[in-house]
Amino acid sequence: MPVKSNFSVTPYSVSGNVDYQKLIKKFGTKPITGTLLRRISKYTGGDLHFMLRRGVFFTHRDLGWLLDRYDQGEKFYLYTGRGPSERTHIGHLIPWTMTKWLQDKFGSKLIFQITDDEKFLSDESLDLSDTRRYAMDNILDIIALGFSKKKTEILIDTDNADILYRNAIRIAKKINYSTVKAAFGFNESTNIGFIFYTSIQAVPSILESVREGRNVPCLIPHGVDQDPHFRVTRDVLPKLGYYKPASIQSIFVPPLSGVSGKMSSSDPNSTIFLTDDPKTVEMKIKKYAFSGGQPTIEEHRKLGGNPDIDVSFQWLKIFFEPDDRKLQKIEDDYKSGALLTGELKSILIEKINSFLEKHQERREKARDVIQDFLVSREDRK
Ligand code: TYM
Repeated sequence: MPVKSNFSVTPYSVSGNVDYQKLIKKFGTKPITGTLLRRISKYTGGDLHFMLRRGVFFTHRDLGWLLDRYDQGEKFYLYTGRGPSERTHIGHLIPWTMTKWLQDKFGSKLIFQITDDEKFLSDESLDLSDTRRYAMDNILDIIALGFSKKKTEILIDTDNADILYRNAIRIAKKINYSTVKAAFGFNESTNIGFIFYTSIQAVPSILESVREGRNVPCLIPHGVDQDPHFRVTRDVLPKLGYYKPASIQSIFVPPLSGVSGKMSSSDPNSTIFLTDDPKTVEMKIKKYAFSGGQPTIEEHRKLGGNPDIDVSFQWLKIFFEPDDRKLQKIEDDYKSGALLTGELKSILIEKINSFLEKHQERREKARDVIQDFLVSREDRK
């Protein structure tokens, strides 16, 4: 039965107040249960990333199947990506940090797709030189997160047309227009490159199998907005004799303007970019971060704040305060009124700026090693 809702999530637009439990039903994914988390921690020496513990990654496809295969000795590889249409922002850190953690824990290979073609096709205002510029810029942020040089390949779509195209057409042949229209909301004026595109995003989920000449399980960590691509992909791949890719999917880092929707670069005042300087971060949080506090200090001391609608608290919970006990204390103090909005914002500003200071240093160093990560144009397999 179709699930009624007043929000919408596709890879190209998120609107309304996303109800993640309803989204699970709407998309037909499965919740990440305690049982699955216990299975993961069996392989990681009991360690469980706080984004898994806290339900930031809340839903999946075939994670249990992937772990069954792993138990049978079939190693999986990881696949994730970026559409380079702007500078990278805090929201992108969620799937990428999880991917890095999984790579460290499971020793997995990673294919990181950079879909400059997608952004060229989907955004009227961008030409190929813009998407190339953003691709090279965004790759610095990706490398700065510390992925293994030996186990990671970054695949820029327009540099790898050969391996992508040959596999994409096999997939595209099995997808009809009404399927992509329903999944992405396309209409009569959508350009045909964009209609074809999902078959390009599907390719890395079979690439290891193509190269190895046998099925290799694939796990894709991503924000929940990307699920429609992989729903379509999963329907098609068995018809071509491949495994369906498994996925784990995260909630969105909300924009500074309020806890509904997704942070996106289209609204710079609601977004912290990974290249923002400390003063800009401070200004944006102080000026734009929606507060769950009371209008006056007196009222706040008496009534306390509401962390559920407070963007600063939510950012600490989703990414910036990994320590559960510290987070709990912040939440308790905020609710009781002991912690004021300004103080909560200062905690977040400090956390973001100390993260960005180190990140930006690593980002500069990444310039020297870019070539080591790029998939060779000679890869003709
Ligand atoms: P893109 O560039 O829009 O986003 C990259 C990744 O970041 C996630 N994301 C977010 N996660 C949490 N909070 C947010 N506010 C937020 N904004 C974006 C996205 O879900 C995504 O995981 N078509 C893709 C590129 C791509 C890809 C992939 C992504 C190609 N292959 C495989 C994931 C997995 C895109 O434009 O992502």
